[in-house]
Amino acid sequence: MTFKTIIEPFKIKSVEPVSGTTCKQREALLQKAHFNLFQLPAEAVLIDLLTDSGTSAMSARQWAAMMEGDESYAGSRSFTLFRDCVQRIFGFKHVIPTHQGRAAERILFSVMCKKGDVVPNNTHFDTTRANIEYTGAEAVDLLIPEGRNPSLIHPFKGNMDVKALEALIDRIGARRIPLVLLTVTNNTGGGQPVSMENVKAVHSVCCKHGIPLYFDACRYAENAYFIKLREPLYSEKKPREIAQEMFSLADGCTMSAKKDGLANIGGFLCTNDDALRQQEENLLILTEGYPTYGGLAGRDLAAIAVGLEEALDEDYLHYRIVSTSYLGTHLAQEGIPIVQPPGGHAVYIDARAFLPHISPALLPGVSLSCELYLAGGIRTVEIGTLMFAENAHMDLVRLALPRRVYTQSHLDYVVEVVIHVWNNREKIRGMEIVYQAPFLRHFTARMKPV
Ligand code: F0G
Repeated sequence: MTFKTIIEPFKIKSVEPVSGTTCKQREALLQKAHFNLFQLPAEAVLIDLLTDSGTSAMSARQWAAMMEGDESYAGSRSFTLFRDCVQRIFGFKHVIPTHQGRAAERILFSVMCKKGDVVPNNTHFDTTRANIEYTGAEAVDLLIPEGRNPSLIHPFKGNMDVKALEALIDRIGARRIPLVLLTVTNNTGGGQPVSMENVKAVHSVCCKHGIPLYFDACRYAENAYFIKLREPLYSEKKPREIAQEMFSLADGCTMSAKKDGLANIGGFLCTNDDALRQQEENLLILTEGYPTYGGLAGRDLAAIAVGLEEALDEDYLHYRIVSTSYLGTHLAQEGIPIVQPPGGHAVYIDARAFLPHISPALLPGVSLSCELYLAGGIRTVEIGTLMFAENAHMDLVRLALPRRVYTQSHLDYVVEVVIHVWNNREKIRGMEIVYQAPFLRHFTARMKPV
């Protein structure tokens, strides 16, 4: 007998209390934060869906591994465990630890990119785009058109537009393209997966023109599970085998272990290229640390080595994808416009459709995320005009689910709050920016309602 209820595949050994604030308190807190939810003290947040990054609950096995962390400066045993684990799953020749994903990006792009270069991706994440632009190169998004239509259902809305990639290469020449990136899953485009068929097609274009292919691999396990669920050829394969096949088609990757590494900090950069490795390690030593720790404690490396394996567990992945879809489906049933189908790590509300009376220039995503906080103490993040300015194709509010942290009743509460805001949406006003930084402005921008 099998039962239909899908349970969290863990029991809770250690708890962290959360408590609410009053609406009046939240009003004052929002004012003080200049309507930027990054500026809120975390204890003033009841349910924190700001990000799935670094917010996972670690397992008993990870905590046990941390106690065994080897803190030697050079040649740490924890590094060996970490490197071997990454090589088993990712299969790349060189593994360079970094303190998080963007450090890997900075090193990779500093070595590979220069002014005049162009780096295509399905969709660049904010730090990826910023690190590329910082080298003087241009970051271009080549997502399939279906990926830009929030309500359209398509199994692999994270796919790269292969024809657009070929057209770009024809137009500017392969020599100006130092690498092609594929972000799995496509965070900025709704946490949507990339199919193996698409990976193969992009790989073959890259091979034809001698351009290296890299993965932005943060959510590789969730992407592998979507391939298993949605690509018939892979339905019998293990997520690990799918991940291995995917990475076998690439020359390297950047990784934030704060996502599918199930760790609170950490990342890495991989490459098969000996010469690049040397340059990358030289830069690593300059700012991150010696190549056997790369800015991390030995215990962090140990936790990642366990987390990467746990993230490929099928019971875990099933629970993970089903709980995100549970949240998305319950919102969609009420008519709330979300990016369809729900993504792997998050549900994205389409703020332009939710608040059609607020033009993109008046930041509908920021307005909606402030309202969700005011109404129920829920913190979300805008992925839209504030984050990407004129490069924003959509205005989304992301409800990112930390891994193994919230239960189904937490999600039921979130659904209730979003429905309440939906029923009162006509009263919501737009926002204008009163201060912004030159890079990654969304972290520190100050806003006010108009
Ligand atoms: N690439 C993608 C696709 C990401 O989602 C992130 C981080 C990074 C790179 C950078 O990794 O944070 O370890 O330096 N995303 C987080 C988020 C911050 O909230 O989506 P990092």
